[in-house]
Amino acid sequence: MRLTPQQLERFDREGYLFFPGLFSADEIRVLNEAVPELYARREAYNVREKGSEAVRTNFAAHLYCEPFARLARHPRMVRPVMDLFGEALYMHQFKINGKMAFEGDVWQWHQDYGTWLNDDMMPTERAMNVAIFLDDVNEFNGPLMFIPGSHQRGVIDASHDLSTTSYPLWVVDPGLVSKLVERAGGKDGGIVAPKGPAGSMILFHSCLVHASTSNLSPWNRVSVYLSLCAVSNHIRRFKRPEYIAHRDFTPIECLPDDCLLKPYPVDLPWKAGMPASALVTSPEPIDAIQQAA
Ligand code: SIN
Ligand code: MN
Repeated sequence: MRLTPQQLERFDREGYLFFPGLFSADEIRVLNEAVPELYARREAYNVREKGSEAVRTNFAAHLYCEPFARLARHPRMVRPVMDLFGEALYMHQFKINGKMAFEGDVWQWHQDYGTWLNDDMMPTERAMNVAIFLDDVNEFNGPLMFIPGSHQRGVIDASHDLSTTSYPLWVVDPGLVSKLVERAGGKDGGIVAPKGPAGSMILFHSCLVHASTSNLSPWNRVSVYLSLCAVSNHIRRFKRPEYIAHRDFTPIECLPDDCLLKPYPVDLPWKAGMPASALVTSPEPIDAIQQAA
């Protein structure tokens, strides 16, 4: 899939692109069928909601689950970002967010690049999120909300929230969020929430300010996020476990477009279990570790 000049212009202006119903029901079924077994696993890579058994985020399934390993190489998700950056990409982060019915908690207002810079020392914002809905997303089940154009501000001051939810996040202060929303049009388009059927895809800039509310509806809102980073922009610090911030900077090679429906072979390096090294972290930059070795 190639982006048109109109889509490129829109992406520059608004910081996101929405593709309703891009994947078919058959393609989505293959992914959905794999989720319950992944969420049932008692592993570090399943982060549960605060005070609940519901999975908030499953990390790194592309390393141990075949359908998601194929999704991680899907040309409809990966090629547009390759075109935007004009460079090979590696997988910085891969997550299946639950936002389960009645249980899914909020994601505070944040920029992803804020976390990637502060925690992982990613040099620039040349990384992008591509999300795909595994459930229908409506106004009730906690759709992702964006402040259009907020990516143009670059990196915004953020504070590290370690307590609101079960997952630490660098969050944007409410006063600044109010100003950004006002600048984006206030009540007239200052916040948007793309909604659509399972199989819809969103591509959004790593500096776009976004959030989602809790899910008080009876409908799950499972979505998959690929965070794709230009290879030259790889992270410089392994402060977070490898299942959250990947350390393999090998360029992604796309599979054919029908890869969710045909069993193309894929590597599953963590199929037999996550290596102990994935839990080893360091506050030092990688080059400092390499020099000391
Ligand atoms: C995220 O911002 O990384 C996830 C937000 C969501 O799934 O609602
Ligand atoms: Mn985010």
